[in-house]
Amino acid sequence: MKLEGKIALVTGSSQGIGQAIAIRLASEGANVAINYRSNPEGAQETVAKVEASGGKCYTALCPNSQGYAVQGDIGMVDEARDAITETIEHFGKLDILVNNAGIEKHAPFWEVTEADYDAVMNVNLKGAFFATQEMVKHLMDTKRPGKIINISSVHEELPFPNFTAYCASKGGMKMFARNLAVELAPFGITINNVAPGAIETPINTKLLNDPQKLGVLLKNIPLGRLGQPSDVAAMVAFLASSDADYITESTFFVDGGLTWNYQEQ
Ligand code: BGC
Repeated sequence: MKLEGKIALVTGSSQGIGQAIAIRLASEGANVAINYRSNPEGAQETVAKVEASGGKCYTALCPNSQGYAVQGDIGMVDEARDAITETIEHFGKLDILVNNAGIEKHAPFWEVTEADYDAVMNVNLKGAFFATQEMVKHLMDTKRPGKIINISSVHEELPFPNFTAYCASKGGMKMFARNLAVELAPFGITINNVAPGAIETPINTKLLNDPQKLGVLLKNIPLGRLGQPSDVAAMVAFLASSDADYITESTFFVDGGLTWNYQEQ
């Protein structure tokens, strides 16, 4: 098991990609803090799946349970910081932070409200920024290395009309990771982004229920299917493990080939 003795926090893990990541990290032996904002049932479901994942806790720091739910809105800086400190209080330390919590709002650029802009930026970028800062302070205080993994999007590179705030947040996440990789490398802290394409999750409910839009999207995916949350989780598990010790400052696309599939008709 690659993550034996490691403690991980996955933000936004009561559903979708975050839930799959929490389960996968646990199955590799990590103890996992499951952060949620407004879906305690989903968080409890993740905890139950983490417990059932076949992972075992080998660390002396290990409490009775391999999973632990932490309530907090990552879009509020205080709550993002608290999610980190609560995890450390519960498990004794933190080794892996997965900045997964994310939202998107659909609107033409000229109709985007300030409230929607703030909501997207606060969760996707500001929350990740300050959660990471709290984690980094902990690693520096305890003089330990660590791994930070951001769940970005193909839209850290690729335009997504009608989702401009979302694209700005993910583009920001790209430079956030590049900058920190340089600044934190001397402390043994790595940071990488995973960029999912079209994954079957609650964020995509509208699209999944629209056969016409779904058909057009599938034509753009060379591998011919939507991704599953477990496809993303597998990449995160690799980046969280010591197999990835020499990897920092990169983005890994998990998109079935979507990003570079421009074809002239
Ligand atoms: C978005 C989805 C979108 C996918 C591919 C993701 O980042 O959250 O809504 O379908 O990118 O465009």
